[in-house]
Amino acid sequence: MNNVIPFSQRDNPPSPTVPGDGGPIPDLTRIDKNSDLTFVNGRPEAAIGTVLYVFGRVVEAQGAPVPAARVEVWQACYSGKYMHPDDRSAYPLDLHFQYWGVATTGDDGQYALKTILPGAYRAAGGGVRPPHIHFTVKKAGLPTISTDLYFDGTEFHFEGKTYDAATLRQWNVEDRELLALSPLEREQRVARVRLAAPEMGLDDGARYCRFDIAVSSAS
Ligand SMILES: [Fe+2]
Repeated sequence: MNNVIPFSQRDNPPSPTVPGDGGPIPDLTRIDKNSDLTFVNGRPEAAIGTVLYVFGRVVEAQGAPVPAARVEVWQACYSGKYMHPDDRSAYPLDLHFQYWGVATTGDDGQYALKTILPGAYRAAGGGVRPPHIHFTVKKAGLPTISTDLYFDGTEFHFEGKTYDAATLRQWNVEDRELLALSPLEREQRVARVRLAAPEMGLDDGARYCRFDIAVSSAS
């Protein structure tokens, strides 16, 4: 998946350069890592859930594109389950979902990922984590950035039920990780999810959002 849809909308400013809620989870599986998380090599079925494309740019603080950056993501599947031994929840694991992904930015700093809208999950310390995707961006000569992508304007899944966009907005407002950020940082991390138009050439019924990530030059 190398084509990146051009976008005129800019829903959120570039994501901040502060760490998100935890570093990369080690890849303990033998599944493939690429930019399409909706299939696992050698497994014929597609992952369960709402297909979500994430498009964005990696830019330096002044807005210059960062080419050849490695964008790594990890997330829960539709049910809110991570493929990781620390996830002790009883949520079902989707063996057709890839759980980790990687994309490389082009000359214009753009990347594209195809994934599943993650489910919300009950946090170990209490409360519910709204759907999110963890990101790490690596580029030689630049500091490694960790951040998280949250969503707005979409239904989502939690413990077998579907909740509406108003609930998602409320859960984002109440989320402890998001509450720990400044208002600007929260704005930077929450992306508007839209239904893909037919002319975009994406899967029928797919959603998409945009998530730009700013990195700073090493000093
Ligand atoms: Fe998480």
